[in-house]
Amino acid sequence: MAKMWAGRTDGKTEKIADDFNSSIRFDSRMYRQDITGSMAHAAMLAAQKIITKEDADTLIAGLEQILEDIENGKLPMDMECEDIHMFVEQVLTQRLGDVGKKLHTARSRNDQVALDIRMYLRDEIDEISALTKELIAAITEKAEAYADAIMPGYTHLQRAQPVTFGHYLMAYAMMLLRDLDRLADTRKRMNQSPIGCCALAGTTYDTDRHFEAAKLGFDGICRNSLDGVSDRDFCVELMSTISILMMHLSRFSEEIILWSSWEFKFVELSDAYTTGSSIMPQKKNPDMAELVRGKTGRVYGNLMALLTTLKGLPLAYNKDMQEDKEAVFDTCDTVKMCLQVFAGMIATMTANRENMLLAAQKGFINATDLADYLVKKGMPFRSAYKISGQLVALCIEKNTVLENLSMDTYKTFSELFEEDLYQEISLKTCVEKRISEGGTSVASVKAQIAYVKECL
Ligand code: ARG
Repeated sequence: MAKMWAGRTDGKTEKIADDFNSSIRFDSRMYRQDITGSMAHAAMLAAQKIITKEDADTLIAGLEQILEDIENGKLPMDMECEDIHMFVEQVLTQRLGDVGKKLHTARSRNDQVALDIRMYLRDEIDEISALTKELIAAITEKAEAYADAIMPGYTHLQRAQPVTFGHYLMAYAMMLLRDLDRLADTRKRMNQSPIGCCALAGTTYDTDRHFEAAKLGFDGICRNSLDGVSDRDFCVELMSTISILMMHLSRFSEEIILWSSWEFKFVELSDAYTTGSSIMPQKKNPDMAELVRGKTGRVYGNLMALLTTLKGLPLAYNKDMQEDKEAVFDTCDTVKMCLQVFAGMIATMTANRENMLLAAQKGFINATDLADYLVKKGMPFRSAYKISGQLVALCIEKNTVLENLSMDTYKTFSELFEEDLYQEISLKTCVEKRISEGGTSVASVKAQIAYVKECL
């Protein structure tokens, strides 16, 4: 097949050069955006009297037919074509003859590809956002079910203070809510139309870029043609937004992996979201969580790859930029899969209230509350902190817990201790009293749940 760009050269290239140069195996997924963009372009050319109304109608009908034929499987992609843009134009010209050749007036593949990818990623963002919302909803529902389930909260992975499992889960809901916000923000900056920038310098034709932008659902147009065809910051931005989202999922995964180990036994994943071992019959492995954690590395890798590709490129278009697609497509595919699996895994996960409480009871995580007790009775915090620490040391020595020390023992440390202490340092009280906004009390967690539901 002769190259559409044959002219300056005879267009006869080596097969290996063609294969190397070609992007159709990964950009063919943008066929719909490419065709829709071309329809708007034909309409604009007619509206501006650059081509006749009849020619535009013929082009639009031809493009519509191509779209239908691709979707019905009647028109297979020609992998010999350089890219999806060439494919569509080639089929159109085969079918319409000379009229087909008029479509590419006042545009270039450079603004065309920039347009297609923005339109494609815009839709991806909508899908990713919807899936993120579903995951937040699943997390929030779990948090409601376990709003009063006491567990140890950690710092340095050392038991620190009692929290509830509901509180813990809502922490992740808040992170994902910010991810949603970042996605919306990314979409906003992405939604500017580059079409009409042409190869790099604009055009001598009397085009109407706003007409095309509006027809294709853009909020505005790229204001500088060199910029419009040569920056891929919107891809980088989306990939960093998704990297942050994946970082959140990865941390959550790590906790789920830990919590479902025999050492913790805080949660039980449903059989539907675990796997067995081919050799160890006792195993129930949290593969889904591990894969989400693992795929986070791949998403970060894609981001670094594109940043590196772009960093030394002179303006405007360079073929290096064709490398944007595999990285950003893979990132979107990966995060969509992770979000779906994660939502299912969370929705079917159960928590073991007894084990969580047991772990909470063993870690002296009411030591802060014990110190606070003395402070409320008039002792300076540092002195109270020291006594509380000494009491913990005593418990460790006697292999007991603060709740079980006798009042006589307490009195030898301070006369301020009285019977109400036991009530004050019970884990339930420790949780219930943390009513500060955002805190772990059932009331605070319920307020967090209500907030997230409102945001959704
Ligand atoms: N397949 C190319 C890409 O993905 C399309 C743009 C080609 N433009 C050019 N002047 N070679 O970047």
